[in-house]
Order: sequence, then C-alpha cells, then structure tokens
Amino acid sequence: MKGYSENYWAKRAKQYNKTNWVKNENFMVRFLGMLPDKKYEPILEVGIGTGAVAEKVCEKIGPLTGIDISKEMISQIDHPEITPILGNAHSLPFDDSYFKLILMRNVIHYIDDPELAFSEIYRCLMPNGYFLFSQVVSPDDSISEEYDRLVGRNIHYPTQGEIIQLFSKYRSVTQDNFILKNQSIINWINNTCNDKSQKKHTIDRHRQTSDTYKRLSNFSETANDMFVDIKHFMVLGQKI
Ligand SMILES: C[S@@+](CC[C@H](N)C(=O)[O-])C[C@H]1O[C@@H](n2cnc3c(N)ncnc32)[C@H](O)[C@@H]1O
Repeated sequence: MKGYSENYWAKRAKQYNKTNWVKNENFMVRFLGMLPDKKYEPILEVGIGTGAVAEKVCEKIGPLTGIDISKEMISQIDHPEITPILGNAHSLPFDDSYFKLILMRNVIHYIDDPELAFSEIYRCLMPNGYFLFSQVVSPDDSISEEYDRLVGRNIHYPTQGEIIQLFSKYRSVTQDNFILKNQSIINWINNTCNDKSQKKHTIDRHRQTSDTYKRLSNFSETANDMFVDIKHFMVLGQKI
C-alpha cells in the first residue's frame, strides 16, 4: 500500500506547476506527436492533476474530460475545454468502450493497484481506441531498486519492462524515451516535499549514489545543487 491519498496532493497542489518538467514544451511535442493524425473524440485524461498535459491536448487535439482523486489539484484548472471530475483511476465512472483516446502521465507510480487502473482504462476505451502513456522511470531497469531508494517516499517507479507488460492486451504498441536534461534536484525536492529532514535525507542520498547511477543519469554537482537527466518512458497502444 503506497498510501498516496488526497491529503498528499492537497499539500502539493499549489507548488506543483513550479516543478521544472511539468510544462516542458519539448516533452509535450514528442508525447502528443506519438499519436497518429486522426480525429479523437471523446478524450479522457486519468490523473489530470493541474491540467498541464490537458491544456496542450485542447490546443492540438480537442476538448477533454479529466479525472483525479485530488480536488485541490483539479481546482487549479481553469479552461473552458477541460471538464475535471473527482474520481479514482481504480474505478472509472464511465461506460465500457466510451473513449477514443485516454492519456495518463506520471500517475501510475502513485497508484496502489496499477493493474486494476490499466484494466479500467482498457474497459473504457472503444475498440481501436488509443491509450497514450508516459512515466518517469529509472535511467535503466537494472538499477530500478537503487532508483526507488534514492527517490524515497515509498514509491516504486515501474520499470520499462513492467510497463510494457501492462500493455500486453494492446496492439501496435510503440514506445519512445524523452530525456529531460540537467534537471535540478533542489527544484524537484522543494516542490515535492515540505518536510525539512526528509529533504535533507533525499539530498544526502543523491550525493551518495552509485557510480553507475551517476554515469547513467549524467549526474553533475555545484556547491548548492545537483543535476541529473530524467527519463520519461512514453508508450502508445491501440485497443483490440
Ligand atoms: C505527478 S501528478 C501528475 C499530474 C498530471 N498527469 C501531469 O502529468 O502533470 C499525479 C496525479 O495523479 C493523481 N492521482 C493519484 N492517484 C490517483 C488515483 N488513484 N486516481 C486518480 N488520480 C490519481 C494525483 O492526485 C495527481 O494529480
């Protein structure tokens, strides 16, 4: 049980958009660029958060509905073409085969039962509908355990292998990596964690990581900060 409840997101909501990667334009272009050039309607985003991806979806593809467990996160959304709904990925309040496109970015590592969330998404997609997914992952599956310990917070970041396994029911599965270069650990920790001693421990853990992690993440250090490349694993699948 990961126990990332509404309370956790209530505390993060106001700072969330200040995290460097959230609105990264190059990421959005690569991520949404994975979709074949078609009409998509209706569209759902699961774990919509503050609507950073959703805003781009409206701009490039069309209006959408978004679901999230945190009312504080979705209260940051103010866009005429986004319909935010409070609800849980474990039990989506939609009919079978309803959506043509479902998106999810950086949600699955917070979800208690990823398989259940995936089966709910599959159920709500229409035949031939698309699921576009992205997740921060360890720089390499071989150091997944070290990565989980490093980030802390009782989170397991699914490996690329585990994610591909979750797509086993889909066809035409395509994948891509987007590397966000030189990301500040201090920016990330300041916008993720409010507890001073937890912050210090996380910073110490980053200083003490293995040479393998440092090499794979292009780790660098200044007097006041550390910088690493962050890997986003993006997958597109089509429902059979
Ligand atoms: C890291 S944020 C990502 C937000 C957005 N997808 C983005 O990429 O900017 C994770 C989001 O997942 C939501 N979330 C966590 N568990 C959830 C669940 N079981 N059902 C729906 N949303 C959930 C959180 O409330 C939070 O808004």
